[in-house]
Amino acid sequence: MRDMLLIALYAFLGAAAVGLLGAGALRLLRHRSIGASLAVVTTVAVGSMLAGTLAVAWAMFLSSHDLTVVTTVVAMAAVVSLPTALLLGRRVVVGSRELATAARDFGDGGSFTPPAETAPAELVAISRELALTSERLAASREREHALETSRRELVAWISHDLRTPLAGLRAMSEALEDGIVDDPARYHRQIRTEVERLNGMVGDLFELSRIHAGALALTPARISVYDLVGDALAGADPLAREYGVRLVGGQVDAVPIEVDGKEMTRVLANLLVNAIRHTPADGTVAVAAEHSADHVVLSVTDGCGGISDEDLPRVFDTGWRGTDARTPPAGAGLGLAIVRGIVEAHAGHADVHNVTGGCRFEVTLPAART
Ligand SMILES: Nc1ncnc2c1ncn2[C@@H]1O[C@H](COP(=O)(O)OP(=O)(O)OP(=O)(O)O)[C@@H](O)[C@H]1O
Ligand SMILES: [Mg+2]
Repeated sequence: MRDMLLIALYAFLGAAAVGLLGAGALRLLRHRSIGASLAVVTTVAVGSMLAGTLAVAWAMFLSSHDLTVVTTVVAMAAVVSLPTALLLGRRVVVGSRELATAARDFGDGGSFTPPAETAPAELVAISRELALTSERLAASREREHALETSRRELVAWISHDLRTPLAGLRAMSEALEDGIVDDPARYHRQIRTEVERLNGMVGDLFELSRIHAGALALTPARISVYDLVGDALAGADPLAREYGVRLVGGQVDAVPIEVDGKEMTRVLANLLVNAIRHTPADGTVAVAAEHSADHVVLSVTDGCGGISDEDLPRVFDTGWRGTDARTPPAGAGLGLAIVRGIVEAHAGHADVHNVTGGCRFEVTLPAART
């Protein structure tokens, strides 16, 4: 028993000496290739066995024959294990090098192509994560690109929309100045209409820029949906008469909501103006408000004949104003972007879907706290 304890002690001391040397070597090599560290680990494994054996042999006076046998066995173990470790190290090094090259490519703006080399599971997991990140990056680049394009288009449209009435205003004012107009009152009316339209457009642009900058300062107050809808219907009545469209506001629940009254009136006004403009004469535009425990849904249903499936997801985009050649654009395409911006600032959401004979715009808002 005592002998066994002594053997264990000597073997431990011999192995510990090699282990300490190995730890020092690993520390020195910590910034080097993993291949070098693996070689050290294998050398320590074989070396500690040899050192332990030699220590025991020296203390216990093993016969030189036995010592040679043990040393030869250990040497053979080293011959096999060292190349194995180096092979593994090489696989890891090659795998990580390929991963680094692939990652560099996708950092430069390309997409990430996972390396073909079969690498260890950890590297494969990193590669999978990089592929997912690459997909997310590509999607965000696409979004950014689409946003930039729509911003550029908007500037082009707005410049055009501003330039046309301004040219008209200039021509009319010059004609008035030169006194060559038969009916000056008609010109004055026309100038006033154009100025009001321009004023509305600039107001919309200002509102939209405040929404985009997150600077829309809301002053929420508790108001009745009934009053909100009533005010909006009264405001839209002259336009509805002009277009020969019937306004209906029958299905409105008298529930309270907590919103900025001015902004929410603008939301309903924009929806109503659109609905009236897109409904043929003698048609009907209906406003409704339904409530559930935690939501109030305001809806405006028109008789526009439906919006095509490919246009439906785009109607709320800033500056988008339809692709239907039969209905030339009447506005700047800002109204629904403002609707969405204001509604989202109220923690709600705006949607549209087709119904029989027309479409329904819905604004969902959180119900007022009781
Ligand atoms: N009620 C509706 N029925 C059918 N199409 C609609 C309706 N409302 C909007 N659209 C389509 O969506 C487009 C965008 O609407 P939006 O209100 O944003 O802009 P606009 O009415 O053209 O201009 P603006 O509101 O700035 O004066 C419209 O040009 C139209 O093609
Ligand atoms: Mg509009």
